[in-house]
Amino acid sequence: MLRLLPAVVAFLSFTQGAVSLRPQHHTRAAHDLTIRADALASAKADVESFLGSDKGDMIRSAMFSSIRTSWEQGTAAGGVLEYDNPEYSVFGSAPFSNNGAETPLIPLQFALSAAVRQTADGRLSQNIGDALDGAALDGASSGSVVLMGTFTDVDRKEYWANASARELDYVLNVAPRTSTGAISHRADSKQYWADGVYMGFPFIAYYGAVTSNQTLLQIAYDQCRLYRDALLIDGPTGKLWAHIYDDSTKTWSDEGIWGTGNAWAALGILRVAVTIEKTEHAQHMTNQTTELYAWVKEILDGEFAAINDDNLFPDYITGGPNFSDAATSAALASVAFRAATLHPETFGLNYTLKADKVRQAVLDNLTELGTISPIVDPLVWDQVGTLSTESQAFGLMMVAAWRDWVFPL
Ligand SMILES: *[C@@H]1O[C@H](CO)[C@@H](O)[C@H](O)[C@H]1NC(C)=O
Ligand SMILES: *[C@@H]1O[C@H](CO)[C@@H](O)[C@H](O)[C@H]1NC(C)=O
Ligand SMILES: *[C@@H]1O[C@H](CO)[C@@H](O)[C@H](O)[C@H]1NC(C)=O
Ligand SMILES: *[C@@H]1O[C@H](CO)[C@@H](O)[C@H](O)[C@H]1NC(C)=O
Ligand SMILES: *[C@@H]1O[C@H](CO)[C@@H](O)[C@H](O)[C@H]1NC(C)=O
Ligand SMILES: *[C@@H]1O[C@H](CO)[C@@H](O)[C@H](O)[C@H]1NC(C)=O
Repeated sequence: MLRLLPAVVAFLSFTQGAVSLRPQHHTRAAHDLTIRADALASAKADVESFLGSDKGDMIRSAMFSSIRTSWEQGTAAGGVLEYDNPEYSVFGSAPFSNNGAETPLIPLQFALSAAVRQTADGRLSQNIGDALDGAALDGASSGSVVLMGTFTDVDRKEYWANASARELDYVLNVAPRTSTGAISHRADSKQYWADGVYMGFPFIAYYGAVTSNQTLLQIAYDQCRLYRDALLIDGPTGKLWAHIYDDSTKTWSDEGIWGTGNAWAALGILRVAVTIEKTEHAQHMTNQTTELYAWVKEILDGEFAAINDDNLFPDYITGGPNFSDAATSAALASVAFRAATLHPETFGLNYTLKADKVRQAVLDNLTELGTISPIVDPLVWDQVGTLSTESQAFGLMMVAAWRDWVFPL
């Protein structure tokens, strides 16, 4: 028999008890800070208990074992980077040059495989099977860890620099553009996919941060804006992102408000924002970062208002089935924890308390094989799946974000 997972200790009852003890005349902000401190103190024990268990490593090994395609390679690399080597993720305090932290070995191993499978046109992880999956932006999801090699594995500096430069060139100069100038998610047509916001734009921003190039930071922001302009629609719980618009045929390929699509958008926008904020150009780009965070908030607010009774987000809010999807859930919980850590004045306790319920539901439903469950099939978006690399990566992003919220980097 495989080990059964221990129940996770809830901290909500404790923190809510603490609320009623606070004097009424406290200002709202001070009040929130006090509750936040109580919530963090209580969450500390939960995180320590989690880190002492093998749950995180089970999520990770199930991800390593899964067969991957281009977007999955980059997403997996991003997940394990945040989990194993957070100081080299964009959430670290000085992530864009060698900061003396332990060499991010596993992310570099992922990066190496992505570079070995780079096609002649520059797309990383693309040379799989017939290399014809038609994605334009997916390969760029490995671009950041490849570029990271230039300063964490200097013996191969030129190798990493070449591979990442070719990926950047593909994204900026080869991939088709839509009528607004947005970089198409597809190589053979002009399409906006919410997924592309995670796949492509954090890499452009990261390249700008590592090479101190404000033009690239601005491009990353502009691309997020153009994708939002194209995909944002009115939903029953607020403005949210539809999944796919085809600008070649001027028709929706999937007008549904897909949970994972919104999660990809929020994950990507958040990474672009925090990347810009950590460069010396930040003070000249506060309008951009303010907007980016407002767009993250928009997604979290609309999605949290649609959450199912079991504290998992629905697969689709409109245009598809509403079964509970732990993949969307882990991804959006990670975004809430990260946003609350970065900007507690905007993302207050209502985000982390809700995210923590989601976090518990996701970890409670982890299977004995370490798989996140129940999840959407990553290829058939209206069906339940069994295993997906992206949901395992989202699981790692969630526990890393939760850990770093309690024990800031
Ligand atoms: C990097 O690219 C340059 C120019 O194409 C080439 O001369 C060099 O051999 C490449 N280096 C490596 C390590 O791939
Ligand atoms: C910044 O990046 C852009 C796009 O790759 C490039 O055209 C430009 O020359 C770069 N600027 C600097 C100062 O390196
Ligand atoms: C930033 O936003 C403010 C307020 O909307 C505006 O006045 C200002 O011109 C903007 N700055 C830039 C650089 O766009
Ligand atoms: C959290 O509270 C703020 C301020 O009242 C509100 O704007 C936001 O919609 C709330 N978000 C969530 C997810 O509860
Ligand atoms: C989910 O979908 C089912 C049928 O498709 C519907 O009966 C139910 O009301 C939906 N639940 C929510 C919370 O929208
Ligand atoms: C999560 O796990 C619990 C306990 O095993 C189960 O009752 C619940 O149905 C699961 N949630 C979903 C959405 O499957």
